[in-house]
Parts: sequence; structure tokens; C-alpha cells
Amino acid sequence: MFKKLAFLIVLASMTLVACQPAAPAATAAPAATEASVVATEAPAMVYTYADMTVGFLQTGSEGGWRGANSASFKETAEQLGITLKFYDSQNDLAKQVAGFQQFIEDPEVNVIILAALEAAGWDQVLKDAKAAGKTVVIEDRRIDASEDLYVTFIGSDFVEEGRKSGTEMCKLLEGSDKKNVWELVGNVGSSPAIDRGKGFRETAEKCGIVVTNSQTGNWSIVEGKQVTEAWLKESKDVQGIFGQNDEMAFGAIEALKEAGLVPAVDVKIISVDATAGAFQAMLDGTLNVTVECNPLLAPQVYEAALAALNGETLPKWIPSIEGVFYADDPNLKDIAAGRQY
Ligand code: AHR
Repeated sequence: MFKKLAFLIVLASMTLVACQPAAPAATAAPAATEASVVATEAPAMVYTYADMTVGFLQTGSEGGWRGANSASFKETAEQLGITLKFYDSQNDLAKQVAGFQQFIEDPEVNVIILAALEAAGWDQVLKDAKAAGKTVVIEDRRIDASEDLYVTFIGSDFVEEGRKSGTEMCKLLEGSDKKNVWELVGNVGSSPAIDRGKGFRETAEKCGIVVTNSQTGNWSIVEGKQVTEAWLKESKDVQGIFGQNDEMAFGAIEALKEAGLVPAVDVKIISVDATAGAFQAMLDGTLNVTVECNPLLAPQVYEAALAALNGETLPKWIPSIEGVFYADDPNLKDIAAGRQY
């Protein structure tokens, strides 16, 4: 009796195996006919942040804004598990181009991110990067090269920042008999320097503002002060100063004080960037308005690079979201306390 039962159990278990879908046992392949061969392409690698090795070409270290921009890339890479190779170009274009070539030749690097010192001169290395299969994203500053040589540009509308500054200077000089304005310009050849100047004139000239002096202060407090001091030695006939970034405006403020003029009162002052220092200057009453330029671009840039690695096509420009801040804003103290840079 028991034997019969045992036999039945064995029979049953053999049946179960039979029911299960046949494991892709190496059974004899059916005869190969044209129609039946399905070309199975290896599934495209799905990249994750951990697969990204980024070669990041920073301009150098100009001031508060650049410090916040560099920190954004370093901290976000760490948070996302991205391998970051950070290249400081020390504000030297030749060094920046050499760094770019270095990343093209680096087999580990699959993404190159560029904050361009100057707008021109990038076509050849971009062509080389494309030929080497590198994914290139432009951050912060637009460049003159053809758009098909990079994935996308993530950064500010510098012309619009200039227009906003011109509009605000018109408001500040409303009713003034004279509207002579001095402009402290960023490094020559850079897109923020070119575009902010263009945008400023577009709106400022509508209210009769005349830019009577314009010179580079290379984004620095020291040079901003030296240039303003030199102008003040020639003439004190100035009603407004447009600093293309906060640091140069801070330099102008020091120079005005030392020349016996009251900054933001005798001479209206507008800067671009809206760093913590600009909020402090507005709280101190020495700066009237600051136009924001957002440095915290890393999350958007890394997201775009990953999407591109995974075959997505992106818009050629992803503009940053930016505001304008006023010394006479009753909530200024709270706003300043909530700022990230
Ligand atoms: O490219 C952005 C500019 O570069 C910032 O306005 C300036 O502060 C920085 O040096």
C-alpha cells in the first residue's frame, strides 16, 4: 500500500515541473529562418548619478557669487554620488582651454561642464569633445559656439539682468536734473560683461541716462574701488553707479565714502548678483538695489547631464529664475535672513 502511495507522489511531482514554463534550457534551437531571428540589441545602459564622472571647468574665484557656484557643484555632487573632477582655471582662458582638453582625453570623464571665462573661442574643443563622445553642458555663462556642439546651457539671461538694472536706475534718478552714470564692467569678453552692458543701455537710455564712464573692474572689490577713485579724481559729476556685480559696487561704495560722498544718497548704486554682502550693504544703507543672478545651478545641471546621457534631447537654454531686491523693502531683514548665499 505504502509503496503504491510513494509511487503516486513521485508521479505527481514530476507533473508539476512539467507545468512550469520551461526554463530557457539550452534546448536545440529551432531551425534558423529569416523571419524568426529577432535582433536583440543589448539594452542601452541606463545611467545613474553614480555612473557620472564630471570634469567641471570653473572660471576661477572672483567673489561671493563664484564661491557659491563652486560650492553648489561640489556639495551637490557629493549628495548625488557623482565623481567630480574640479578644475580651477584661475581666471586664465588658456588654462581653461587646456583643462577642457585634459578632460576630453580623460577616459573616466563622461560629462564636461563649462563656466566659460570668455564667450568666444570654444568651437574646436567642443568639436573634439563631441568626437570623443563626451556630454557637454554649459553653465552660468552663454558662449558663442554653435548650439549643436553642447547639450544645453543652464544660466541667467544677462541681457535681462542689465535691462532690470537700467529700469531700476531710471526709477532712482527720476526727477534728477542730471543722469550721469558710471559703469563697472566684468572681465572683458565674458558674456555677463557684454550682455549686462547691452541690457542696461537698452532701458536706461529711455529715461535719459548717459553712461559717462565705463571700465572693467574684473569683478573685484579692489579694482572696482581703484577705477572709481580714478574717475572721482577727474570729476564728481555722477548721479549713479552700475556695478555689474556686487564686489565692484562694494569697491565703488568705499571710494565714494573716501571722497566725501554718501553712497546710495548722493550717488545711487545698483549691483548684480544679490549675494549676502549686497543684502548687508542694503541694510547698512549704502546700496539701493541688487539684481539677482542665481549661482545655485548644480542640481539643474547634473539633472540635465544625466538626462542627456540617457538619450534625452533638452532645450538649448534653461534660464535661471531670478528676482530684484530693494533697500527700501520693509521685509528686507527677513529676506536677507532667508538667503542661501
Ligand atoms: O557669471 C556670473 C558672474 O561671474 C557674476 O555676476 C560675477 O559675480 C561672477 O564673477
